[in-house]
Amino acid sequence: MDFDLVIKNGLIATASDVISGQDIGVRDGKIACIGFGLPTTSSTQIIDAEGGFITPGGVDSHVHLEQWNTPTGDTWITGSRSALCGGTTTVIAFASQNKHHESVLPIVDDYAALAKGRSSCDYALHLIMTNPTPKIVNEELPFLVKEHGITSVKLYMTYDPMKLRDREILDIMVATRRLGMTTMIHAENHDMIELIIETLEARGQTDPYYHAVSRPQLAEAEATYRAIALSEMMDTPILLVHVSSETAAKHIRDAQTRLLPIYGETCPQYLYLLSERLKGENFEGAKCVCSPPLREKPADLDSMWTSIANGTFTTFSSDHAASKFGVEGGKRLGLINGRPYFKKIPNGLPGLETRLPLLYKGVQEGRITIHDYVRVSASNPAKLYGLHTKGAIQPGLDADFIIWYPEGKMEPFELTNAMLHHDIDYSPFEGMTFTNWPRYTILRGQTVWSRDGEGFMAKQDQGRYVKRGTSALGGPRNVFVNEWRPPV
Ligand code: URP
Ligand code: ZN
Ligand code: ZN
Ligand code: ZN
Repeated sequence: MDFDLVIKNGLIATASDVISGQDIGVRDGKIACIGFGLPTTSSTQIIDAEGGFITPGGVDSHVHLEQWNTPTGDTWITGSRSALCGGTTTVIAFASQNKHHESVLPIVDDYAALAKGRSSCDYALHLIMTNPTPKIVNEELPFLVKEHGITSVKLYMTYDPMKLRDREILDIMVATRRLGMTTMIHAENHDMIELIIETLEARGQTDPYYHAVSRPQLAEAEATYRAIALSEMMDTPILLVHVSSETAAKHIRDAQTRLLPIYGETCPQYLYLLSERLKGENFEGAKCVCSPPLREKPADLDSMWTSIANGTFTTFSSDHAASKFGVEGGKRLGLINGRPYFKKIPNGLPGLETRLPLLYKGVQEGRITIHDYVRVSASNPAKLYGLHTKGAIQPGLDADFIIWYPEGKMEPFELTNAMLHHDIDYSPFEGMTFTNWPRYTILRGQTVWSRDGEGFMAKQDQGRYVKRGTSALGGPRNVFVNEWRPPV
């Protein structure tokens, strides 16, 4: 048996095991086999992992690229490049409906056209629904599942242009349950936030820091529990996106303990950054405005790590929603009369490239295991979103890998924005010290990033669209709150 590529001397880490002493053989972009002493020929490429971990290529299941509400952000070209340089081989980004769009089919085509030929990593799309008309819910969603492999929707409980009423969420759940789609929910109590913002504005408290004040943990916790209640009533699985706080995570864990199909996601910013970052000279704080906001105490960060380690969080995504800080006119600052105005600052942080090194740091520091790392960064997102050829190191699956440095082999460095491959003029993680980083990224058997070699080497159109299947994680249970049944 001839292989195109054989990777030797690695510690193959999966969500459950570490396999040592065995090689990975790759043919035609797929993992052909894992075994001892695989044969090579003169035409076989050989990579020596030198004892470093080999983990599945990262799946970043929450990424905003070229969305109408991220006007000065990355393109597919720069975003996918930065994904690969940070070990992410598959990105799921959003196609977003505007309230006035009466059909989502052209929207999906438009967003797909933006990525086509311009993504160097593999990619898929979620649909953001902001105006769920009966035609969209009953006719277009089934079409998207069947024809486009779009098997997930994101729903917002806040933001005026996106927000859905509880009744609208319930109506959508009837359809997503029937179709086996994953329903992602941005859970924050809109009315609480709106009231706080109005009073802060009236008091002139509009600097970036007040963004955090305007969106308390309680607003996230209330909406999280409400979303869980809606899900329980409808027997419909949901994923709570970008969970930032302990109380929200507790609601998720309680629901999971009751065996409800409730899933959770967190992001790097909630593991490392505190709301004090929203202060600072020259409105530096505007660099760290995201929603939910950064929280107050180191204990908040610890609890997010714990919720990865104890299995509460299913996925770990970047929520890359980048916009430039220093662009002409101060787009990021949302300046009004020369002062930044938190309400106008585009929400979201850059993070595609730093997501996996930041999570891997948790393995090095003993906060999580290498299995936790693999589970939330690749295996679970692949399962939850129906990427059935991704997220694991198993014969038959796509040969997507990260090869890490053996511990102690990489020269430690302090992160600067210049090292990154996105098209954003800052990273909130600049100045942090890293002692490991993806040394190689391999996409379907091709080396697309070699940190010590040629650097980024993918072709601009190397990425393929992945038509997704339905979730492989637990779905509806046919358990109901009383004798009432949701429509089927
Ligand atoms: O602040 C954030 N997270 N912006 C991106 C949009 C979203 O809600 O995920
Ligand atoms: Zn409103
Ligand atoms: Zn969101
Ligand atoms: Zn987001």
